Amino acid sequence: MSRPYVIDQMISAKEIAARIEALSKEIRKTFPAGERLVVVGLLRGSFIFIADLVRELQDREVEVDFLEASSYGNAMESSREVRILKDLRGEIGGRNVLVVEDIVDTGYTLSHVVALLKSREPKQLKTIALLDKPSRREVDFRADWIGFEIPDEFVVGYGIDYAQSNRNLPYIGKVRFTD
Ligand code: IMP
Repeated sequence: MSRPYVIDQMISAKEIAARIEALSKEIRKTFPAGERLVVVGLLRGSFIFIADLVRELQDREVEVDFLEASSYGNAMESSREVRILKDLRGEIGGRNVLVVEDIVDTGYTLSHVVALLKSREPKQLKTIALLDKPSRREVDFRADWIGFEIPDEFVVGYGIDYAQSNRNLPYIGKVRFTD
């Protein structure tokens, strides 16, 4: 059983939508217009972000794939050992790849995934994370694009969970314990 808590809104649905629109312009500038882009979502936290992001890239030919790496389990502490629970279905060798993550926290997950995918020799590989908690970083890693930098708070919503709950909130909120 989890401790009692309330959720305080931190980033509204409107702010998220505006930021994704701006980021999609940057992404368009980076990847060649005539080439197919493989957008790789890290499950499960990126599922709403990737859905909104690819619809902002509707003028491009986009392929969507998913990869699942182990992260927190049901706790609030990050694990330093990253395991691949579900690999991509498609090949990425010689292709343009955009890896989409919900949050960069310690940095272990995304740095591990990027090293793995780069070993498959994509033509170009870039990373985007909706949220970044730079104060929590334990490995030297920075995503190419960040939606919002946030302080060291535990957040939920817009795909992100606490013990598998709250993914369906349309905004990002911070968890505040009330006990
Ligand atoms: P990292 O390997 O420490 O960078 O962890 C990244 C993963 O931890 C994210 O993809 C999330 O699944 C999870 N995570 C980090 N911070 C939070 C949070 O505030 N709320 C929920 N999950 C989080």
